Amino acid sequence: MPKERGYFITLEGIDGTGKTTQAKLLVDNLRKLGFQVLLTREPGGTALSERIRTMLLQEEKPVSLAELLLYNAARAQHVAEVIRPALQEGKIVVCERFSDSTLAYQGYGSRLDPGLIQEVNRIAADGLVPDCTFLLVLEPQEVWERIRRRDPVAGRDRMEAKGLAFLERVQEGYLELARAFPERIVTIRCGGKPVEEIQKLLLTECLRKLKKRGDEG
Ligand code: TMP
Repeated sequence: MPKERGYFITLEGIDGTGKTTQAKLLVDNLRKLGFQVLLTREPGGTALSERIRTMLLQEEKPVSLAELLLYNAARAQHVAEVIRPALQEGKIVVCERFSDSTLAYQGYGSRLDPGLIQEVNRIAADGLVPDCTFLLVLEPQEVWERIRRRDPVAGRDRMEAKGLAFLERVQEGYLELARAFPERIVTIRCGGKPVEEIQKLLLTECLRKLKKRGDEG
């Protein structure tokens, strides 16, 4: 397998932390600077993976183990069909969520065995690990308010189905991952910061890491 020439960036965080907005802004800003960038998301990013997304998020209520395998089935397709080829072409790939989501949600949230998750994640991602991960952090209580403002009915249902305690466990999981991988995971505390200020932090850090990678050859 040839080594990828591109750069793989992921955005993580509990629901409602603004990942979609920040990912789009980051891609726009990087493109303005002349980089070739692909924006994608998990679960999703290919026709099959988007169908699995619909099954997972709208239609079915799988048991936790089935959920783990479905997220990873979507991932296997996404890595093989979209992410790996783009990286091999030298592109920057910006992906909303990746394997850290599975560890945080299915591991800390749904309490599946972390060793099992790491193994399934590794197989599905074919060993691919992000070069850089931005963890957007907002307090679960704030997220609750934000999602309700955005979509009072669906937002409430979705959050209530998961429960605040679930989201708090997911958040704790993310913070533990950030402590375990400080070189890869950049934690951004978003509370009280305007969108533009958060984007500036992301872009600055991203350009610093890209330069460092370039300097290292
Ligand atoms: P989002 O794209 O709007 O953030 O929604 C995706 C949902 O899927 C979110 O609630 C987190 C969840 N998810 C997992 O539980 N495990 C995973 O591996 C991934 C990629 C997402």
